[in-house]
Amino acid sequence: MNDACLVVLPGEGIGPEVTAEGLAVARLVAEVVGFPLAVETHEVGEVALKLAGNVFPANVESACDRAAAHPRGAILFGAVSDEPIGILRKKYDLFANLRPIRMWPVLLSSSPLKPSVSGAIDLVIVRELVSDVYYGEARAGVDARGAWASQEMFYAEPEVRRITRVALALAQERRGRLVLVHKGNVIKDVFAIWSRVLREEQARHPAVACSEALVDNMAMQMVLRPAAFDVVLCSNLFGDILSDLGAGLLGSLGLLPSVSFNERGFGLYEPVSGTAPDIAGQGIANPLASILSVAMWCRHTLKLPGAAGWIEDAAQHVLASYRTADLALDGRKLVGTLDMGAALRARLRATAQRVQGDAQWTNRERLPDELLQTVR
Ligand code: NAI
Ligand code: MG
Repeated sequence: MNDACLVVLPGEGIGPEVTAEGLAVARLVAEVVGFPLAVETHEVGEVALKLAGNVFPANVESACDRAAAHPRGAILFGAVSDEPIGILRKKYDLFANLRPIRMWPVLLSSSPLKPSVSGAIDLVIVRELVSDVYYGEARAGVDARGAWASQEMFYAEPEVRRITRVALALAQERRGRLVLVHKGNVIKDVFAIWSRVLREEQARHPAVACSEALVDNMAMQMVLRPAAFDVVLCSNLFGDILSDLGAGLLGSLGLLPSVSFNERGFGLYEPVSGTAPDIAGQGIANPLASILSVAMWCRHTLKLPGAAGWIEDAAQHVLASYRTADLALDGRKLVGTLDMGAALRARLRATAQRVQGDAQWTNRERLPDELLQTVR
């Protein structure tokens, strides 16, 4: 198998703690599948600011540029309190953010919802990531009433069209349902574009049943009947908010992985969560979001969906015996970040011995470069 390259940017807070566990799993996959994995780890954010005077130093940018140009290059990110995550997303045009939210039977007791409601949760939030109010013009001033400030919500049609195409292609490969989340009753012009583009693009995917939901109602529906949703297409801000709600449905943010792609399929993999300052430095953060992000890396960048599946299976297996403090213990042993990572790797190693040389490392599923071809 060809070589791969991974630029690891652990960042701040729990970022370094959980990313170390993700990286260890990535190295294990490279070892058992048998391909050279070049890893470069760099400081970004507050730490880099102190060391190098810049949250995104030039040598780190060069490393990311090299990864972006590599056919099997990717970034594994931890978390930062501010930049450079927004800079990275914009610089590499990582517009397509996929956030799968799936209930595993072993997690049922961690969910605040009744098993009859949460049991069948299996949705993906497809979040536009490089536009919206996040990158809108910001202004501030003072007038006779006091301070004022504004930040523009902006969407251009091509930005809406490419993320809509990704969501439709994904829905077609999944259960064929897509809901567009918006606030078109109030923010009329912006979301009229989203609704129109979805209607136009839907014609190319007649098998996908599309609907629309206002974001406030969607927040309620995701609690009341989360299993009804398949692909949830969101603008940047609404996708951000609904992802955390989705994490709450499972019981913890520490479980949610993500990838953000550009049109060439270059991806940044990271937990959905932030730096978690309330638990940082204690060795108790759940590493599974980072480890499951590495599973997404196997699936999407390496084209090893079998390996991704084995990592996900290993996560379920260890959750049957061990829990980090963010999840309901439910009779399981309480462990810290390091022990959770080690238990998962032990399971993965055992699996690797069983399936060595087996085509299962590489088979299954349609791959996302095919999804992304739909936006070109
Ligand atoms: P957060 O996601 O860091 O934490 C929210 C809650 O979830 C906290 O109680 C935290 O302890 C818990 N949590 C998160 N990840 C966990 C894990 N792996 N294991 C166990 N518990 C976990 O969100 P918050 O507190 O709103 O933001 C903290 C900082 O992170 C802010 O500065 C924010 O800007 C930044 N942030 C950075 C992101 C990124 O780098 N991509 C994404 C989101 C927030
Ligand atoms: Mg967020």
